[in-house]
Amino acid sequence: MTIKFKINGRTIDPTNVDMEMPLLWFLRETQKLKGTKFGCGIGQCGACTVHIDGEAVRSCTIPLASLNGKDIRTIEGLAKSDNDLHPVQQAWIEIDTPQCGYCQSGQIMAAAALLAKNKNPTDEEIDKSMTNICRCASYTRIRKAVHQAAKFYEA
Ligand code: FES
Ligand code: FES
Repeated sequence: MTIKFKINGRTIDPTNVDMEMPLLWFLRETQKLKGTKFGCGIGQCGACTVHIDGEAVRSCTIPLASLNGKDIRTIEGLAKSDNDLHPVQQAWIEIDTPQCGYCQSGQIMAAAALLAKNKNPTDEEIDKSMTNICRCASYTRIRKAVHQAAKFYEA
C-alpha cells in the first residue's frame, strides 16, 4: 500500500512503516515531532490533538492507512515563524495559560481549529468544542486565552 500525505507543508511518503501505526506514534517516533503529546492513547484526553484538513483530531486514534492525501498540521507548524506566532499562541503567552504544560499543545490546536470556524466563541461554545482534559485544571485561563485570541482575529 502506497500513501502520501503532508505534515506541516512537507510531503511525506512513508515507507517500511506499519500502516496501522497511529499517527501520534509516527509523529513522535519517526518524525521526531515531540510537541504532540501522548496522554491516554485511547482518544479521550486530547493531548495528542493535531489538525487534519483543518479539523482538530486526536492523533492517537488515526491509523496511517487513513491519511492518503491528507494535510496534517502539528503544533510545530502552527506559527508562520518564531517571530510570527499564531494568534492562539500569542494569547496563550499573554494570559500565561499553562501550568505544567503537558496538555497545552493539544489545547492550542483545539482552540486554533475552533477559532478558524467561529471567530468569537462563547464560553459554552468553547466548553462544547474543546473537550481536552487538563489535569492542572487550567480551564478558566484556557477560556480567557481563547477570548484573547478572538480579539486578535477582530483586529
Ligand atoms: S493521547 Fe490521544 S486522546 Fe489522549
Ligand atoms: S497544564 Fe498541566 S495538564 Fe494542563
